[in-house]
Amino acid sequence: MSTIIVENLSCTYGIKTPFERKAVKDVSFEIQSGDFIGLIGHTGSGKSTLVQMLNGLIKPTSGKVFIDGTDIWANPKEIRKFRFKVGLVFQYPEYQLFEETVEKDIAFGPSNMGLSEQEIKERVLYAAKFVGLSYDLLKKSPFDLSGGEKRRAAIAGVIAMDPDVLILDEPTAGLDPVGRNVLLSQISQYQKTRKNTVILVSHSMEDVARVTNKVLVMNKGELAMFDKTEKVFARSDELTNIGLRIPQVTRVTDALRKHGINLPSGILTVDKAVYEITELLKKEGRL
Ligand SMILES: Nc1ncnc2c1ncn2[C@@H]1O[C@H](COP(=O)(O)OP(=O)(O)O)[C@@H](O)[C@H]1O
Ligand SMILES: [Mg+2]
Repeated sequence: MSTIIVENLSCTYGIKTPFERKAVKDVSFEIQSGDFIGLIGHTGSGKSTLVQMLNGLIKPTSGKVFIDGTDIWANPKEIRKFRFKVGLVFQYPEYQLFEETVEKDIAFGPSNMGLSEQEIKERVLYAAKFVGLSYDLLKKSPFDLSGGEKRRAAIAGVIAMDPDVLILDEPTAGLDPVGRNVLLSQISQYQKTRKNTVILVSHSMEDVARVTNKVLVMNKGELAMFDKTEKVFARSDELTNIGLRIPQVTRVTDALRKHGINLPSGILTVDKAVYEITELLKKEGRL
């Protein structure tokens, strides 16, 4: 279990070169242990830079990251410890598979943590189960897997390190709709079972609405919003102004409410909308 506190965090790439670029600007927030956070924002808004600063892969230009009260850069020699504690699954992680077998690939992270053979084995099986990789795939070469299976293997490799915080940078990008939904359910199940902090970077408002309890919105390197998911998606006009949108079903139910239909606010998923509309029709004696 880990609390993350971010204080005035900034990252500038290519300082004093013609390519100087402020990717993250003076961002502060606090993430409680067990939160499931959605991180949204335009391409180039600083999401990937921000999450890489949370696990010490990128050193901030200024500002601090505290994990459970410890400034992660207080002792640079110990930064590895935080990379284990805060597991990061990169965008398109399947390009980082390189071992002979899927099993060895998933075991790569835990093997670097000084665990026993037995424990590594247990962790590999446990992680493979979470992401729905059947055991017969473990002996195959990662190159023989489908795109979706490769993605799952890469995610399992981070889960197998048993991080307190799991960060996934656009984990469903490029998968087909069924694959996206299944993977999202598996991530959600992982979070519910482990009660770990999970940060999901996503372009899909529908995905974020379905699984997260809080949403962090980045805009041009700045923190634009950080609040409960339903509160963020109640700010439709502001989101539109920064080029984002609310889930489509929320738009529909908000519009119905504006026209006097007695639905509650903050409906974020199709399932919830179906339930509320059915209840309303029953109450009105139409069902
Ligand atoms: N390694 C890098 N070197 C220089 N500029 C970078 C690098 N990585 C990202 N940037 C720039 O920083 C900004 C934020 O990028 P990024 O954090 O990748 O945003 P996002 O993940 O929201 O798309 C962008 O303008 C991007 O071009
Ligand atoms: Mg990115």
